[in-house]
Amino acid sequence: MHSETESVIAEDQRRVPLHGAEAFEGMRRAGRLAAETLDFIAPYVQPGVSTGRLDELCETFIRDHGATPAPLNYKGFPRATCISVNRVICHGIPSGDKRLQKGDILNIDITVILDGWHGDTSRMFWAGTPNVKARKLCDVTYACLMRAIDVTKPGNTLGDIGHAIQAHAEAHRFAVVRDFCGHGVGEVFHTAPTVLHYGKPGTGLTLRPGMIFTIEPMINGGKPDVKVLPDGWTAVTRDRSLSAQFEHSLGVTEAGCEVFTYSPAGLDKPPYGVAPKTA
Ligand code: MF3
Ligand code: CO
Ligand code: CO
Repeated sequence: MHSETESVIAEDQRRVPLHGAEAFEGMRRAGRLAAETLDFIAPYVQPGVSTGRLDELCETFIRDHGATPAPLNYKGFPRATCISVNRVICHGIPSGDKRLQKGDILNIDITVILDGWHGDTSRMFWAGTPNVKARKLCDVTYACLMRAIDVTKPGNTLGDIGHAIQAHAEAHRFAVVRDFCGHGVGEVFHTAPTVLHYGKPGTGLTLRPGMIFTIEPMINGGKPDVKVLPDGWTAVTRDRSLSAQFEHSLGVTEAGCEVFTYSPAGLDKPPYGVAPKTA
């Protein structure tokens, strides 16, 4: 029997949780800490630093704030964060041997568990100043995420979200990665619904207040095809083109949505990791 007060609804065969005020408060705190972790690491992202060192610094920051890094040991993932440089699409494994070079673009993906709630967010950073095409890929990917957030409101559908991303990426002749998607998030790291970053307007699950999920488009400069390296994690572009990603965790509200992972320092938008100039 379906009723307005039912706490879950069906999406295909899975059940999509509808969360209340307590979950929103937990997600607000976890999301803020995840965003603060990225704000904290921004000044360390420079040519010459290793991704292993950036990972260590993030892990210490997360633990010092009473949280744990969700990726560590998740399905065997060996580090606290994912750091994905240039042609790495996602799930890059930080390493002391991997030093950033001038002009690299990289995504740092943080998920903290704070009081049981998962705050999941990622953004692009630059080591020095990348070339024009790399900068444009970052800017378009950022705009894809923000356009998707703009259409995240009750009555719209997951297809509207996917379409917003796909239309903007393809208008710039970039390609949406199909092999990874956004996900429900909360006390569970990855749950229903599955949030595709491509789609047709008006199709798929209808959004309702209380749904909590991530949107995390991965956009390639070349073709969309993915290859996973023999380490079992590192996903790269098959054609060696650059890839970019931004991710926010959010909850659907009566009025639209509440983004839990905006940067308190304003560092989650172009030019990434650089504090906005004050007048
Ligand atoms: N944070 C990633 C996401 O956005 C998941 C990382 S899982 C790991 O869903 F095991 F790769 F770390
Ligand atoms: Co995620
Ligand atoms: Co993430």
